[in-house]
Amino acid sequence: MSLEERDPVSGHQTTGHEWNGIKELDTPVPRGVLIFLVVTHVFAVVWWFLLPTWPLGETYTKGLLNTDQKKEVNEKLDEARLVRDPWISQIEQSTPAEIQRDPQLMSIVRNTGHRLFGDNCAACHGRDGKGGDEFPDLTDSYWQYGGSVEQIAQTMRVGINTEHPETRTAQMPAFGRSGILDYAQTSAVANYVYALSHPKSVTAENRDEILAGREIFEANCAACHGPAARGDPEIGAPDLADPFWLYGGELTDIITAVHEGRQGHMPTWDERLSDIEIKILALYVHSLGQEGH
Ligand code: HEC
Ligand code: HEC
Repeated sequence: MSLEERDPVSGHQTTGHEWNGIKELDTPVPRGVLIFLVVTHVFAVVWWFLLPTWPLGETYTKGLLNTDQKKEVNEKLDEARLVRDPWISQIEQSTPAEIQRDPQLMSIVRNTGHRLFGDNCAACHGRDGKGGDEFPDLTDSYWQYGGSVEQIAQTMRVGINTEHPETRTAQMPAFGRSGILDYAQTSAVANYVYALSHPKSVTAENRDEILAGREIFEANCAACHGPAARGDPEIGAPDLADPFWLYGGELTDIITAVHEGRQGHMPTWDERLSDIEIKILALYVHSLGQEGH
């Protein structure tokens, strides 16, 4: 086998290698590929000179065009802040009532509030704020801790039954479990509470039990829930005479509440949300419901 061998068909030199009778042609790299390689290399070298490229310890080659994408991003952020700032400071400096009167600020409150609510509150209160099992509906007209913008902001800031020094409390004692009321008494007081919002549930048969329940209520429950069971927002004792229930309004739910007690928990947002975010959310949540009692 000679090293200099020309393929009779294509006219190319062979490389001189042979595998099982097959010989490899010594064909040059196609011109197009060569040009492509040269152009991309030249492009890369030009690029090194134009843009920031090589790290040099603490610094880097800055490039002739002097571009800096970090700087550009920061400039864009500054611009966005300038556009937002006027309304941020307007919301900061206005009272809730002033903001509520301003349709433009309220539309910002609704947009920003909706996003903040989705990120922080929807997991428990639902996307639409309608709550669910053991999570209050924030769109109805009843507020356990008061429904003014300030009261809602305070509920968010300190939470309910939390570690926060000013936490709101929800401490409904377990009258049955701790032996204060026996089952007959628990049932009687529960029937009385049920009858407050369901007057038609009073019949000739259960009338005496309900009257006995009323006495038990006055002795054990009125201190927190009020003599007429209309609740006390200061201690989060709910109104028991209205149609709104946190833990369900069936007779069995009321019996469970009296037997087991209830201590709901709502996290504090003091450190997780800024003052302005809390203000926007309180205005937003307030706009979902109505200022009840
Ligand atoms: C120490 C104050 C206190 C006393 C006394 C008390 N409650 Fe409560 N009760 C509360 C609080 C606070 C809640 C709300 C608990 C929560 O939100 O987790 C509550 C919740 C309830 C609920 C659930 C309401 C709902 O919306 O689902 C019922 C029913 C209830 N109480 C009935 C009674 C009855 C009946 C008595 C008397 C036997 C009584 N409570 C005594 C403070 C009290
Ligand atoms: C981990 C679940 C959870 C999250 C998250 C949560 N909440 Fe709550 N929230 C509760 C529970 C439970 C209660 C009722 C506690 C009780 O009274 O027993 C409550 C009560 C409230 C109340 C009082 C309602 C009334 O009738 O007075 C407001 C207002 C409220 N939440 C707003 C918010 C807002 C705004 C956010 C988001 C920043 C939020 N919550 C996030 C669980 C949660």
